[in-house]
Amino acid sequence: MAKQLTTLITGADKGIGFQTALELGKRGHHVLVGARDVDRGKEAVDRLTKNGIIADLLKIDVTDRTTIQAAASQVMTKFGYLDVLINNAGVALDQHQPASKLSTEVMQNDFKVNFFGAVDVIQAFLPLLKKADTAKIINVSSNMGSLGLATNSASQFYGVNSLGYQASKAALNFATICFAKELADTTITVNSVNPGWTATEFGGRDLKQSIPSGMQSVKTGEAQIVKLASDPENKITMTFTENQGTLPW
Ligand SMILES: NC(=O)c1ccc[n+]([C@@H]2O[C@H](COP(=O)([O-])OP(=O)(O)OC[C@H]3O[C@@H](n4cnc5c(N)ncnc54)[C@H](OP(=O)(O)O)[C@@H]3O)[C@@H](O)[C@H]2O)c1
Repeated sequence: MAKQLTTLITGADKGIGFQTALELGKRGHHVLVGARDVDRGKEAVDRLTKNGIIADLLKIDVTDRTTIQAAASQVMTKFGYLDVLINNAGVALDQHQPASKLSTEVMQNDFKVNFFGAVDVIQAFLPLLKKADTAKIINVSSNMGSLGLATNSASQFYGVNSLGYQASKAALNFATICFAKELADTTITVNSVNPGWTATEFGGRDLKQSIPSGMQSVKTGEAQIVKLASDPENKITMTFTENQGTLPW
């Protein structure tokens, strides 16, 4: 029988993170639900458990290194390794204000979660990933962080100007590139994924209303993340992909 994989997903109490936990749990992963709010995290673990999934809560606020280190110590004690790390926690705080008006404080808060938070989590869990037979880091990025799309006048993203969020996701993509290169001689792969415009609170959906047209379901949003996380070969590294294929960095 194949070994049960242990997978940590940050920001897994709702949205794409929760749906990813559900799908990977159904595929047999032992899911570690990263949540900054313990009550919301427990609720998510309960929902997963009711679906027959093996799940534990890990309190992680990605902007608070103490919680990250405490979570890594817990995983070290209980498992001694980690197979898959999915950096999913994310915020978009700049409300599409033009670069000339957006305060750098707001931009810093985008970066604290989307970039520094993800890097802190990778650094803390890397010793555990190195203890797995083969391991994966999947960074949940965004097409809004693609420099190629932002500078292509034929792209719908050419007209988007959201400096804090876009720069923080472009920086996260650079984390993917740098860690993939550093870990090239190991069995750890590192990739960025764009979920696409997805029906979550983050995506702008009122969860009490039906999904607006053009917005995809969370099940479609997690598909490429789950595909990479479940890939038994684990040879693909340093890519930026979505359901439709490869994206320009
Ligand atoms: N939805 C889209 O259209 C879309 C498109 C492209 C990329 N993405 C990316 O997909 C990822 C998931 O987004 P989503 O749509 O599922 O959003 P969501 O429903 O708002 O979920 C975001 C998750 O991140 C968590 N989070 C925020 N700040 C955190 C922190 N400091 N520490 C730990 N967790 C934190 C949230 O926790 P709380 O519950 O405590 O707030 C929540 O669990 C994000 O990285 C986002 O940038 C989304």
